[in-house]
Amino acid sequence: MNPHDAAPDIRAVILDLDGVITDTAEVHFQAWKRLAEEEGLSFTREDNEQLRGVSRRQSLDLLLGAHRYDYTETECQALMARKNRYYRELLKDITPADFLSGAPQLLEEIRSRGLKMAVGSASKNTRTVLERLGILHHFDVIADGHSVVRGKPAPDLFIYAAEQMGVPPEQCVVIEDAAAGIEAARAAGMVAVGVGPSTRVGKAHYRYKSTAEIDLNEVLGHGS
Ligand code: BG6
Ligand code: MG
Repeated sequence: MNPHDAAPDIRAVILDLDGVITDTAEVHFQAWKRLAEEEGLSFTREDNEQLRGVSRRQSLDLLLGAHRYDYTETECQALMARKNRYYRELLKDITPADFLSGAPQLLEEIRSRGLKMAVGSASKNTRTVLERLGILHHFDVIADGHSVVRGKPAPDLFIYAAEQMGVPPEQCVVIEDAAAGIEAARAAGMVAVGVGPSTRVGKAHYRYKSTAEIDLNEVLGHGS
């Protein structure tokens, strides 16, 4: 079904950050991997796929798996703080050269069409990453890991972004690379655009292999 059959005109786009605008998914992986190695736990690139889009806390629980109960709550907090320290050390190397291919053009296209634009990311480091990329002030709204209690796949973060922009959910498009993000967008009643393989974002209304391949005309219902 074409989601535009019943949907009014799109007025806003909410972009995920990690894996859509820049490849911090890889940076998160490096930081979790370092922590896992120090704790004597196995953690592969494949395991990391499950962590896309989910909060730091959920990521830790997934990483620990059955070992979760070997750690007290205080120790879990310390593990998260350590991972975040490693992550932030790596973030220092991020520059405007670290956009995913096609991301600057996509932001420009959204703007030139007069649409509102928000970031909707689970990350508490969203502002730092946007600053390092030099685009913090390009967005009307920043919805991040500090904005709501329930993270993706709950719709709360995207609903929050829409409310802050003053646009009804059904007039918003979400661009996401994570299964949890697509689920959240659909639960919010928004048009879901997936970036990545169908095994990951197959439930999106529209799917593209990469950010560079997103066809905004098609998504906005003006395509052929
Ligand atoms: C998401 C990432 O954007 O942010 C997840 O896809 C990450 O992998 C989550 O766990 C939380 O990030 P942070 O920066 O708050 O630890
Ligand atoms: Mg992501």
